[in-house]
Amino acid sequence: MKKITITGAFGYSGKYTTQKLLKKGYKVQTITNSLNKKNPFGNKIEVSKLEFKNPEKFTEILQGTDVLINTYWVRFNHKKFTHNKAVENTKIMLDAAKKAGVKKIVHVSITNPDKNSDLEYFKGKAELEEYLKQTAIPFSIVRPAVLFGEQDILINNIAWMIRHMPIMGIFGKGEYKIQPIYVHDFAELLIKEAENEQNNIVNAIGAETFTYNELVKTIAKIIGSKKPIINVSPWLGYWVGKIISSIKKDVTITRPEIKGLMDNLLYVDDEPAGKTKLTDWAEKNKNTLGKTYSNELSRR
Ligand SMILES: NC(=O)c1ccc[n+]([C@@H]2O[C@H](COP(=O)([O-])OP(=O)(O)OC[C@H]3O[C@@H](n4cnc5c(N)ncnc54)[C@H](OP(=O)(O)O)[C@@H]3O)[C@@H](O)[C@H]2O)c1
Repeated sequence: MKKITITGAFGYSGKYTTQKLLKKGYKVQTITNSLNKKNPFGNKIEVSKLEFKNPEKFTEILQGTDVLINTYWVRFNHKKFTHNKAVENTKIMLDAAKKAGVKKIVHVSITNPDKNSDLEYFKGKAELEEYLKQTAIPFSIVRPAVLFGEQDILINNIAWMIRHMPIMGIFGKGEYKIQPIYVHDFAELLIKEAENEQNNIVNAIGAETFTYNELVKTIAKIIGSKKPIINVSPWLGYWVGKIISSIKKDVTITRPEIKGLMDNLLYVDDEPAGKTKLTDWAEKNKNTLGKTYSNELSRR
């Protein structure tokens, strides 16, 4: 049976992917920054550190790996981590994979990566796609727009704001689009690509496309909120987010994230890769969705 190494099995998408890999009988190793986090898989998986500071050790860790599934990235720039550093670290990982003789890489990117973008997230992802291709390791690049499901951040926190704020704000006119994919569908797609012997680039978008207006209003309706939903300037929306960030000791939303969303970068004109509808999932989970705030920084 093939050995698959996956980043972040104690994190979000890595956890669901690991569950499914084990079910399919794969030998799994995770490489993680979170050796301290609870390991729900016990001794069913091997656990190693993301050895960015020690490329030789990293190569050793990746030896015997058939497929590397790489989800590693950072959501925003912070005093403790940056996109630039994540690009540098990922290159170290890809070089180590090459030296270790990894046979395939499934690399998670983003919809609309662009090396000329002024948004570091989209620029860094584009740079890494190029770097991966020049390693000449067979690859699949999977480009999600946004993930939803148990433990997600964006969709849950929209619901949290609807529940907890007197008025819900939408950045600008809210006509830009978003295509959330269910985290389990995403995990299955990663495994399908791990099994695909061809190079491939796939947009990981869900079964439904919403304008941001529709998304917020749909979630509000499902969780039974009748609070006013109004369009506000992105500037005001950002500052409300900033106040929530300081209360929650988190980074709720950043200016580049608002810009990426409003520039329609979480939308592609393509076929859905996921089958689960956000509306169906939200309906099933309406009693818990957004009850508690999902805190990105507390996961670090
Ligand atoms: N979540 C979304 O809605 C979404 C949307 C578009 C694209 N994506 C892409 O999908 C991939 C997986 O996302 P995910 O939400 O499932 O990620 P995740 O589980 O939170 O993290 C994936 C990996 O990155 C590491 N990581 C994340 N933030 C870090 C930080 N601040 N410092 C150091 N390491 C960090 C994690 O470290 P640990 O090993 O310590 O857990 C884990 O190994 C990412 O490449 C992301 O860019 C996600």
